[in-house]
Amino acid sequence: MAQLKLGVLASGRGSNFAALVAAIQQRRLTATVRVLISNKEDAGALAIAQQNGIPALFLSPKAFASTEHYDDEIARTFIKYNVNFVVLAGYLRLLSVDFIRTYTNRIINIHPALLPAFGGKGMYGIHVHEAVLAHGCKVSGVTLHLVDEIFDHGPIILQRCVPVLADDTPETLAARVLVQEHQIYAEALQLFAEGRVKIEGCRARILPGSCNEACQ
Ligand code: GRF
Repeated sequence: MAQLKLGVLASGRGSNFAALVAAIQQRRLTATVRVLISNKEDAGALAIAQQNGIPALFLSPKAFASTEHYDDEIARTFIKYNVNFVVLAGYLRLLSVDFIRTYTNRIINIHPALLPAFGGKGMYGIHVHEAVLAHGCKVSGVTLHLVDEIFDHGPIILQRCVPVLADDTPETLAARVLVQEHQIYAEALQLFAEGRVKIEGCRARILPGSCNEACQ
């Protein structure tokens, strides 16, 4: 794919977005962030974008008649900013089918557990970690996946395991998972930047990297 020109959607504090901006600045990720859009006026992600000179827009869902109209406006904005890849960084709205089709295999999401377990309806934020602990899991982790029309379902790009400790609370587990989230998001996007992701049906195949990497 051509150079990654990212459009970011975020609803909250934006720590994953901040980690991506840092990765770009440190040249671990070859990409530019064209624009960030939030559905929440007080989202921390908006402030992080502004501090980094990235166009930041709050779009109120209340100003639109439907999710489809709202997402159409996002798509128009992304086209205006020349976005070719969409990053969900803690975005808490479901995307419309038309939007997903516009960016087929070019929308990526981060989920704070090992999909396909602990995904789907109601599985967001602290609820994910509560469910992992309630099941007595010994490992949890992070999943980066492409977004398709089924919630938390598209091709998995990268996953990383995180141990669950005997005395974990949902909060301590969330914090351990978040450390890995901040690392792996940039790694996943860099695979796209290097043209190393091949989608085969509902799976993603990761192509080998340069000789230096392969020979390590
Ligand atoms: C992260 O835990 C992410 O996995 C989930 O939403 C949370 C967003 O956190 N999708 P932040 O806004 O990036 O700090």
